Amino acid sequence: MTKTLTITSPDDFHVHLRDDALMASVVPYTAKQFKRALVMPNLKVPITTVDQAIQYESRIKKSLKSDSRFQPLMTLYLTDKTSLDEIKKIPEHKQIVGIKYYPAGATTNSDSGVKNIDDRYDVFELMEKLDVPLLLHGEVVDPAIDIFDREKVFIDQHLLKLHKTFPNLRIVLEHITTKDAADFILSSSKKVAATITPQHLLLNRNHMFLGGINPHHYCLPVLKRETHRQALLNAVSSGSTKFFLGTDSAPHLKSTKENACGCAGIFSAASAIELYAAVFDELNELDKLEGFASFYGADFYGLERNKSSINLIKEDWVIPEKITVGDEVIIPLYAGRKISWRLTQSN
Ligand code: NCD
Ligand code: ZN
Repeated sequence: MTKTLTITSPDDFHVHLRDDALMASVVPYTAKQFKRALVMPNLKVPITTVDQAIQYESRIKKSLKSDSRFQPLMTLYLTDKTSLDEIKKIPEHKQIVGIKYYPAGATTNSDSGVKNIDDRYDVFELMEKLDVPLLLHGEVVDPAIDIFDREKVFIDQHLLKLHKTFPNLRIVLEHITTKDAADFILSSSKKVAATITPQHLLLNRNHMFLGGINPHHYCLPVLKRETHRQALLNAVSSGSTKFFLGTDSAPHLKSTKENACGCAGIFSAASAIELYAAVFDELNELDKLEGFASFYGADFYGLERNKSSINLIKEDWVIPEKITVGDEVIIPLYAGRKISWRLTQSN
């Protein structure tokens, strides 16, 4: 008998939608799969003010089909210059749900990020007071630190202290990749949670080098060794409410990925919930998918759970080789590969 699955409509708590033509091409995928998505602010000109976030929100909404019920959730990009007055405006704007911390130079469009996290404790203190969540790209950028250790070192050098200093600050450690991160999340208070991407559940660092260098498996934080992937699988299997869905879907044109200096980022938006379903099925934990994909993130952010639902069917299909964007293409995660779950109805 065909296996089907109906779950409450999921939300993506970490996505890059970009702007302009690229945004217009990728938004429909996220809007089809998810009811809400937390949109990262790392545009070429970063979203650092409430006004910019509101304008960006309206550009995203304009790019949706008129009958779409997709709702973007917005974030501000923290810089060395972000003023406390700007932070104070956030609670008046329900659609702005957090502030994103990028260490300067850590990843795509992070040049305007924070140079020294200790210098922004004034902001974190205010965020704790106003109960505004802090979303962390949790990696150090010191070139002397091995790239595979940068998440662990960030936790040891910065995050433990940050959480201890501001115990009531809600923190999301984004796109976790290591056992160290999963252990930290489980051992910290309920104010701390983490998102997990499909690629870090599906792939380990060998996949970047399988049969030659594969730029489409390069993202930041970079894929880690298999023991870490297993720890992430254990984290989602545990059913802990501290881990929830965040794809980190990050569209880059093929020409900028297949390049002498390829960009970091993996595009998964077109088949994200199907990839997660395949992971949970493989683990024999399909009953845990709904909590991870549809409940725990909303609960953490203090948002209502979605009332609508989606249907998935267990049926083989092949992820498209490419997604067209004007004259260019994006190569999605698992391009041309067969997967076992398919979204049949979303709303
Ligand atoms: C993201 C992007 O392309 O914006 N890239 C990535 O590798 N994940 C930025 C980020 O979240 O680090
Ligand atoms: Zn990201």
